[in-house]
Amino acid sequence: MRRTAKRDFPVSDVRRFLEPGPIVLVSSAWKGERIVMTMGWHTVMEFVPSLVGCVISSANHSFDLIRRSKACVINLPTADMAATVVKIGNTSGRSTDKFAEFGLTAEPADEVGAPLIAECYASFECRLHDARMIERYNFFVFEVVKAHVAATPKYPKTIHYRGDGTFMVSGENTTHWRRLFRPGML
Ligand SMILES: Cc1cc2nc3c(=O)[nH]c(=O)nc-3n(C[C@H](O)[C@H](O)[C@H](O)COP(=O)(O)O)c2cc1C
Repeated sequence: MRRTAKRDFPVSDVRRFLEPGPIVLVSSAWKGERIVMTMGWHTVMEFVPSLVGCVISSANHSFDLIRRSKACVINLPTADMAATVVKIGNTSGRSTDKFAEFGLTAEPADEVGAPLIAECYASFECRLHDARMIERYNFFVFEVVKAHVAATPKYPKTIHYRGDGTFMVSGENTTHWRRLFRPGML
């Protein structure tokens, strides 16, 4: 391994290197209103219970619907949906029904009031697990209580945001280093 020469970098832009989990569409519903937003700031927190933490800005209308309903669905779009994903993330659901506007099909979920998005590869029904960091950080800790995943392909082509309008599209998979894992770490 070679050493890599580095230079100073703006701390506000480190997200470009740390963000790239898949971009997701978060759907929510409350009192007859439904909404969908684009989200990149999420992190897996635990296997069992299945916990996922998300930053949802209080400026977003989704914030209100999710805080009130204590639930959402995290939907995984694929690269062919990228243009729609960007448009959803650049439109507020306060005045627009984004499902109708962007041709998304809302399907009833099993465990929560928020709708599944039929066009997405997967949908994870979530209930609010811990609200203690919402006030301070807009950070919601959800438990995934039901998962719906397409049978194929095994690895969908997902999009990963790198900031400044740049996406990375998921590519090659390899098991080349699998033998280096301890079984309990797989
Ligand atoms: C690629 C991308 C990633 C985004 N990630 C987040 C995020 O992690 N958290 C967040 O609060 N907003 C995020 N946004 C912005 C929201 O999607 C946007 O404010 C949305 O329009 C809010 O809709 P609403 O007001 O209808 O809830 C992102 C937008 C884009 C385009």
